[in-house]
Amino acid sequence: MSEIKAEGIIKNYGNLVALKNVDLEIDKGEIVVIVGPSGSGKTTLLNILGLIDKPSEGKIYIDGKYLGNLSEKELAKIRNRKFGFIFQFFYLIPELTVIENIFLPLWIKEKKFNTRFILEAEKYLSIFGILNKKNSYPSELSGGEMQKVAICRSLICNPKIIFADEPTGNIDSLSALHFFKFMENLNKEKQITFVIATHNEKFLQFATKVVYLNEGKIEKIEKRR
Ligand SMILES: Nc1ncnc2c1ncn2[C@@H]1O[C@H](COP(=O)(O)OP(=O)(O)O)[C@@H](O)[C@H]1O
Ligand SMILES: [Mg+2]
Repeated sequence: MSEIKAEGIIKNYGNLVALKNVDLEIDKGEIVVIVGPSGSGKTTLLNILGLIDKPSEGKIYIDGKYLGNLSEKELAKIRNRKFGFIFQFFYLIPELTVIENIFLPLWIKEKKFNTRFILEAEKYLSIFGILNKKNSYPSELSGGEMQKVAICRSLICNPKIIFADEPTGNIDSLSALHFFKFMENLNKEKQITFVIATHNEKFLQFATKVVYLNEGKIEKIEKRR
């Protein structure tokens, strides 16, 4: 059974058809890399697979279960429990410090605050070398630092699947290398699935599947490994 299955996905924005009948299956432990020119529908597809956005037509199944009948609240629960997101534009909360931004999803998940959240967040901040920024506000960070915070936040709830939109778009090549290694480890040791939309060709070497999107259509799916 696939961990995620998308069947006949169509997404319309008014007259614009952003996705045209997309079928895709993702198995547990895969690293799926979605590539394609700007405007080809990568972000739209990622958001639909991650249950952030609803398709105009078509069905999404998670672990074999059709999710079309679920309320927004139920979908949010699945996202919080099972998914981690690294958004292209980060969406950090400006009123919260770095460390608060990182542990917020864990707080939401467990409902009650626990000082362990701080330790967990600090662990990831250290790994990405930005522990010294823990009490800063997002407006005080560089783009690369914001991206690292977004990466830490995506990991905090021990997700089963991480969705990432251009996760290395704003960081230097050394930090990108860091991210690759980290991704590889999480994938190998915890079987975490990654779904990544990217322009960075260096991701291709890690992919189990490369999805080539063009004008909202899948042109080719290349299986690797
Ligand atoms: N919220 C939106 N409203 C209207 N059009 C949108 C919206 N989001 C994306 N689009 C359009 O859908 C197409 C695919 O966009 P997107 O998924 O962001 O592509 P990519 O991530 O590959 O650059 C583009 O033509 C874009 O302009
Ligand atoms: Mg995009």
